[in-house]
Amino acid sequence: MRTRIAIVGAGPAGMFLAHLLHRQGLDCVVVERKDRAHVEGRVRAGVLERVTVDLMTHLGLADRLRREGLVHTGVNLACDGGIFRIDMAELTGGASVTVYGQQEVMKDLFDGAEARGIQVVFGAEDVALHDLDTPAPFVTWRSQGLAFRLDCEAVAGCDGFHGVSRASIPEDAIARFERAYPFGWLGVLTEAPPCSDELIYANHERGFALASMRSPTRSRYYIQCGPEARTDDWPDERFWDELCVRLGPEAGGRVDRRPTFEKSIAPLRSFVVEPLRHGRLVLAGDAAHIVPPTGAKGLNLAASDAIMLSEALAEALGTGDETALDRYSRRALARVWKAERFSWWFTTLTHRFPDMAGFERRMQTAELAYIRGSRAAQTVVAENYVGLPLE
Ligand code: APR
Ligand code: PHB
Repeated sequence: MRTRIAIVGAGPAGMFLAHLLHRQGLDCVVVERKDRAHVEGRVRAGVLERVTVDLMTHLGLADRLRREGLVHTGVNLACDGGIFRIDMAELTGGASVTVYGQQEVMKDLFDGAEARGIQVVFGAEDVALHDLDTPAPFVTWRSQGLAFRLDCEAVAGCDGFHGVSRASIPEDAIARFERAYPFGWLGVLTEAPPCSDELIYANHERGFALASMRSPTRSRYYIQCGPEARTDDWPDERFWDELCVRLGPEAGGRVDRRPTFEKSIAPLRSFVVEPLRHGRLVLAGDAAHIVPPTGAKGLNLAASDAIMLSEALAEALGTGDETALDRYSRRALARVWKAERFSWWFTTLTHRFPDMAGFERRMQTAELAYIRGSRAAQTVVAENYVGLPLE
């Protein structure tokens, strides 16, 4: 098989990129390890910045998003028994976020790909990348006992944190920057109306909690848990008790304690590699960077990487000027680092760290009180939360 761009991984980064390249008339094939149901079924975040909503619109995939997405113009912070709202729209000249689950985004991307004849190979085992430092790289895999080879001009590594793409780059050719956090998030979904119209991020002495949603009848909740926690330790009753205490009496009192599903635990990590290009391999999305989920930036960074990468690939393959790929790396990383900073800061502000001494705790309290009372500080939160512009 031959194509112009081989895309490894059919998550948000790979599928956004495939649609963007297709629109530019650039032939591509997506090679994905799992099947469609698996990729679509993964429960992840669901807060879309304007950049991501605009991208879905640009791709002609936003019909359902416009109908079903929940536009949020504000976000709430709870601490020390109180709660306050940051009016994002008022502080940013009208910007908002749209709550629409990653599962829905994936469904729209896959349905659109099918309708447009964008080729996605599911169930590809033992994917391997070859000759990345030549102008004629290729990708191989196995499926149902048969061996496949895809020749191309460039490979887009969109295969997430555990993928094969980043691992194909020699250790000494990339720099890694990393921070692990000493806790995880335990998340649940429940078929019940959310306890609040807008998201609540709570800093409580027992740990962080987040009230989110997927629709007017489906809620998503998280609590900070220990790094060793297991879902078995958290039967529903214990989860609801803990969540309600942490959200505070007002919001906690409105939580509808129906049976939960999709209970899972995710570790928190900040991670970036530099550069995003090695020969004819370019990285995008979680393959290149991870943010802790506190700022809800992961999916949005996958979208903005895909936009910048599609422009760079069009230029590089159109003119033969490969330095366009280096410019992609620099441009994408500039945006990534700002989102890394915000996600790290917001995590540090809202979580309880096991080694937090009196001084660090007082700093947290003072910073939250400062944000509560300062329009300037709230503007900083709002402008980062709704998403920085694409530069
Ligand atoms: N070969 C082929 N595909 C692979 C391989 C491999 N060796 N390894 C992983 N994949 C696939 C995964 O099955 C997954 O479908 O690559 C895809 C990567 O998708 P994501 O992990 O979702 O990463 P990305 O597209 O960068 O999106 C990042 O989505 O999942 C969230 O939290 C994440 O919000 C972030 C955003
Ligand atoms: C979610 O709804 O899953 C969600 C919302 C906001 C976040 C993280 C996750 O910061």
